[in-house]
Amino acid sequence: MCAMLTVLGNRRNPGEQDLVDLLSECHDRIRRFVALAREAATRHDVPADQISRACADVERYFTAALPLHVADEEESIAPRLRGLSSEVDRALDKMEDQHQGHAPKIEALLGVVAEVGRDPSDQDSRRALAGVAADLEVDLEQHLALEEAILFPAVRDMLSRETQTQVMEELRQRRRQNGPHAVATGTGTRSESA
Ligand SMILES: [Fe+2]
Ligand SMILES: [Fe+2]
Repeated sequence: MCAMLTVLGNRRNPGEQDLVDLLSECHDRIRRFVALAREAATRHDVPADQISRACADVERYFTAALPLHVADEEESIAPRLRGLSSEVDRALDKMEDQHQGHAPKIEALLGVVAEVGRDPSDQDSRRALAGVAADLEVDLEQHLALEEAILFPAVRDMLSRETQTQVMEELRQRRRQNGPHAVATGTGTRSESA
């Protein structure tokens, strides 16, 4: 039961991953951490110290790791896909709008997850976290589905292998520059990876 309030690492051999594999792993982590936030709010069969630890994991992920994935998409991927197709351009516009729309909801999540982490017995905070996490989970799922439906196939179909390799190196570099909580996807797997 307790083991459910944690996020496990990934399973693929780093040497075999391509760019879309790395991005897909980021999406797996986004889904798992927003679900962890919801569980930290709603599970009453778990000891308080584990709720606090789950809240700390959620806080660290959304503070340190998710911004790296957003930067991957906006700084490394979007500039290379722009102009290649009108459908992809529309999806990129929507992606960037959605990233902006997520920001206040993530701020709200961070505020309430810190409160629950400090005092898991505070039922008002837990109810607030449940609401914020459920709302964010819906938004994020729509967002991830858009990227997976249009942008991930575009990366594989429209970017050369060489470009994809360059982007993978940028992703890893971004994590090397951003400290131990953001260890690169594909060079090691930790729950904090973006
Ligand atoms: Fe995104
Ligand atoms: Fe994404």
